[in-house]
Amino acid sequence: MAKPVALVTGVTGQDGSYLSELLLNKGYRVIGMVRRASTENFARIAHIKGDFELRQGDLLDQLSLISLLQEIKPREVYNLAAQSFVPTSWQQPVLTGEFTALGVTRMLEAVRLVDPSIRFYQASSSEMFGKVLETPQKETTPFYPRSPYGVAKVYGHYITVNYRESYNIFAVSGILFNHESPRRGLEFVTRKITDGVARIKLGMMSELRLGNLDAHRDWGFAGDYVEAMWLMLQQPRPEDFVIATGVSHSVRELVAAAFGCVGLDWQQHVVVDQQFIRPAEVDVLVGDATKAQQILGWKPRVSFAQMVEMMVEEDLKRLKQG
Ligand code: NAP
Ligand code: GDD
Repeated sequence: MAKPVALVTGVTGQDGSYLSELLLNKGYRVIGMVRRASTENFARIAHIKGDFELRQGDLLDQLSLISLLQEIKPREVYNLAAQSFVPTSWQQPVLTGEFTALGVTRMLEAVRLVDPSIRFYQASSSEMFGKVLETPQKETTPFYPRSPYGVAKVYGHYITVNYRESYNIFAVSGILFNHESPRRGLEFVTRKITDGVARIKLGMMSELRLGNLDAHRDWGFAGDYVEAMWLMLQQPRPEDFVIATGVSHSVRELVAAAFGCVGLDWQQHVVVDQQFIRPAEVDVLVGDATKAQQILGWKPRVSFAQMVEMMVEEDLKRLKQG
């Protein structure tokens, strides 16, 4: 029997790499969409590159998406590609809107034109809740985004809902809270801290400059969260889900946990630097994933403490190897 085909956009990113591993293990033919670049950025997928296929396409280019779907005929499309770093969205608000908002419409249009029976997953975000109107946040909590990125994600979310309701497409939105791993980009706070802790422990640097230590996030492990993406596309009905651990920690607690892993006092090394303070902040996020637990049977496996330890250990190992 022919293998089911899945297209993953954003395959070179953190989530794309974990999701591709999961789909390969489930027996899919996995096709990763990559945009053209003068140098390859395949570090996160190097270990599975022989097991799946890469095809060029860009969320900015409608025709590239249509041609790709016509060629590979996927059963499922996971739209993970985006400009995903919140601070950059103030520096490049228009481009962020092109990728993160309109890019979703381009992919949905490609689905509608080529094969409306394709199942579509949109990577929505807890950043949409922003200045939260309810705690904890669930599927029915109103949005109040606080960054151009958050605003773009709200657009992506509602256009997904709209294509489901307008064209009866199996299009779902996963509202995922922050999820991290040793493959997280170095600019995000968790990885910036675990990489910094490892460098300080190894004598490669002495101080770590951060922004707002009072912000709270509901941090989970990316490997657990990609499983929820797949589960959402296997349901009898298309529905949106919040995916979260239900536990919130401050950046200060994260710093203390990470320095604690190597027996160092964070207060000797962390400096608050105004350049990392944002024009508008999302102060506290904490999600309620009861619906996902009840309908998808999903719950997180890796705890906050386990994840921080895993990330510090991996950064120490990588830096020792040189
Ligand atoms: P990431 O590591 O920043 O990866 C983003 C991916 O998007 C990269 O593969 C990047 O490709 C690709 N991309 C960007 N612009 C593109 C374009 N114009 N055409 C094609 N590909 C493009 O992000 P992530 O953490 O894996 O997150 C995956 C998705 O989930 C994103 O949409 C993010 O906004 C969303 N999300 C993430 C979290 C989280 O906590 N991680 C939470 C909620 C939602 P290059 O390698 O070419 O740059
Ligand atoms: N990046 C960064 N760097 N953040 C810092 C720093 C720093 O030096 N110091 C404090 N922070 C605070 C930020 O102000 C923010 O409140 C929090 O740490 C988390 O920042 P990020 O790790 O950059 O993540 P984010 O919450 O802004 O966005 C991530 O999660 C969203 C889901 O809620 C990204 O992955 C988004 O793509 C995702 O949608």
